Amino acid sequence: MGKKKVILDCDPGIDDAFAILLAAQHLDVLGVTTIGGNSPLENVTRNALKVLEVAGVADDVGVYPGHSCPMVAPLVTAPSVHGADGLGGACVPPPTHVAQDKHGVDFIVDTVMGTDDVTLIATGPLTNIAAAINREPRIVDRVREICIMGGSVTLGNWTPVAEFNIYVDPEAAARVFRSGAHIKMCGLNLTRQCGFTPETVARFRSIGTQAADFAARITDFGVASSVSRHQPPRAYMHDACAVAWEIDQTLIAAAPMHIDVELSGTYTRGMTVCDYRHLCGTQPVVDIERTAQMGPQGEAPNAEAALDLDYGRFLDLVCTTLANYQ
Ligand code: RIB
Ligand code: CA
Repeated sequence: MGKKKVILDCDPGIDDAFAILLAAQHLDVLGVTTIGGNSPLENVTRNALKVLEVAGVADDVGVYPGHSCPMVAPLVTAPSVHGADGLGGACVPPPTHVAQDKHGVDFIVDTVMGTDDVTLIATGPLTNIAAAINREPRIVDRVREICIMGGSVTLGNWTPVAEFNIYVDPEAAARVFRSGAHIKMCGLNLTRQCGFTPETVARFRSIGTQAADFAARITDFGVASSVSRHQPPRAYMHDACAVAWEIDQTLIAAAPMHIDVELSGTYTRGMTVCDYRHLCGTQPVVDIERTAQMGPQGEAPNAEAALDLDYGRFLDLVCTTLANYQ
């Protein structure tokens, strides 16, 4: 069987860089679309080109810039996590490749309408994905699934309850979760099981390829910039988990549940409200059988939420991938 056909929508971003390196080797990446998020659109687009060059596939995989800001809210970026340039000042030469002229949303719509069985993997704010669905609602039924790094079954990061990608554009996220597409949510409750440490950096450095050295440099920045947020310091590789889930389904255990996005809460805007009562033996007292698969408003599950990561096998996949590059 051939590699899984994917479009990767991202905002590189240190962890997005790992997502690209994994996808470029193990998946059939039809194109990379970029979205303002960790850093402004110009930076994340340049960074996507850089990482594809590190992977040696920039001649074959085009980068299509998408939206520079969310649908409604003002853009929020994360320089404290990813550096002013979005890649922790990774000291790699500027890319020699340039972005495509085609808008990222047009690329998503045209590719999905013209190619069967495409998986969308989104590792940034969901503005491009929502805009593509608004532009051509038929893509909802044509895509194989939409795998999202975003949200959380439990805690947030940008706020106590909201994860960054959803928080930046909650209106877009709500559109995607309510679209009827097959959604896989790789949220913080899962990705917080995936923290690279100084020992991880040393393991990358021992691999000896240029890609591994690049990975070590950006991880080093991520670990160092985390000391004000996490003790012991560690760089969470959120986005790499979503791609790994598409590479090897056995790496992650998941469960169906109803998920929606809070848009108006004073303290909860951007929260992914996940109904997992059926996982806890606590059923709404109405109709136990019927509501066993129901959400808080009575809807059936509309997504699969990732719950448990096999971190050891995940890290082996990353290291093997880095070793396979030049
Ligand atoms: O909350 C983590 C997510 O926000 C990741 O996708 C990271 O790259 C940032 O975009
Ligand atoms: Ca990201």
